[in-house]
Amino acid sequence: MDEHLESNRALWDEWAEINARSGLYDLEGFKQGGLRLRDYEVEEVGPVGGKTLLHLQCHFGIDSLSWARLGAKVTGIDFSDRAVELATGLAAELGLDASFIRSDLYELPEHLDGEFDVVYTSRGALCWLPRIRPWADVVAHFVRPGGFLYVTEAHPILWAYEDDFTLKFPYWEHDQPVAIDVKGSYADPTAEVTTEKEYSWNHGLGEIVTALAEAGLRIEFLHEWPFVDWELPFLEKHDGRWSMPGQLDGTMPLMYSLKATKPA
Ligand SMILES: C[S@@+](CC[C@H](N)C(=O)[O-])C[C@H]1O[C@@H](n2cnc3c(N)ncnc32)[C@H](O)[C@@H]1O
Repeated sequence: MDEHLESNRALWDEWAEINARSGLYDLEGFKQGGLRLRDYEVEEVGPVGGKTLLHLQCHFGIDSLSWARLGAKVTGIDFSDRAVELATGLAAELGLDASFIRSDLYELPEHLDGEFDVVYTSRGALCWLPRIRPWADVVAHFVRPGGFLYVTEAHPILWAYEDDFTLKFPYWEHDQPVAIDVKGSYADPTAEVTTEKEYSWNHGLGEIVTALAEAGLRIEFLHEWPFVDWELPFLEKHDGRWSMPGQLDGTMPLMYSLKATKPA
């Protein structure tokens, strides 16, 4: 694994611990029941009862276990040891049908067998991956014929903006990562963290769709949404989501969701 990914892995070990204790994730609330999925994604994915679902980059498992609560047989994978430990403990504590594997995304075919009805990834996952084309190959490897990939993610145009809403970062895929000083965690900016930098990569929407098509998947839909699920300084909160302020509301996409099937 390259030095940037190793550094990110150390960072995510720290963040997993912090995030699991944070108000943003409200793990105690989740333990009492309920789901941490958004209504639109539950609707777009459709019924998952009895289906096998592979969650790529599952963090400490709160979204994965939400799918398990809806009846899916879940496998979650993440490259953070601490995230996988927390997710495994949580599944046992809640008695949910889910298992978790520690693996780098790109190395997953060496660590996991089988094909899945649904491959799922969401909210702040793809920006940690240097290359989108090999990601698409891993996805296609694990979708069973007739099954599908579902992604819901921040729109790459959003990742191109700095917190003060100036255009600062690349929109298309780039060799050198964007390196940002770590200040706590996004779920708790006051938390103490020893890893100094976070390294991320953007991938244009066309690059993502083309990578999936080249990997043999068929795009069923690509929806661009005028809201995002987390706070940013230049956005305003409406109905529990964040969108562009005032007259700018609805003028640009902030998230997208995509479904792609593998021909049977
Ligand atoms: C923001 S989380 C996304 C999960 C989920 N949507 C959430 O908010 O809990 C991103 C996850 O990607 C994982 N990750 C980053 N790079 C990875 C890689 N190369 N292979 C596997 N997992 C990776 C991190 O450990 C982290 O748990």
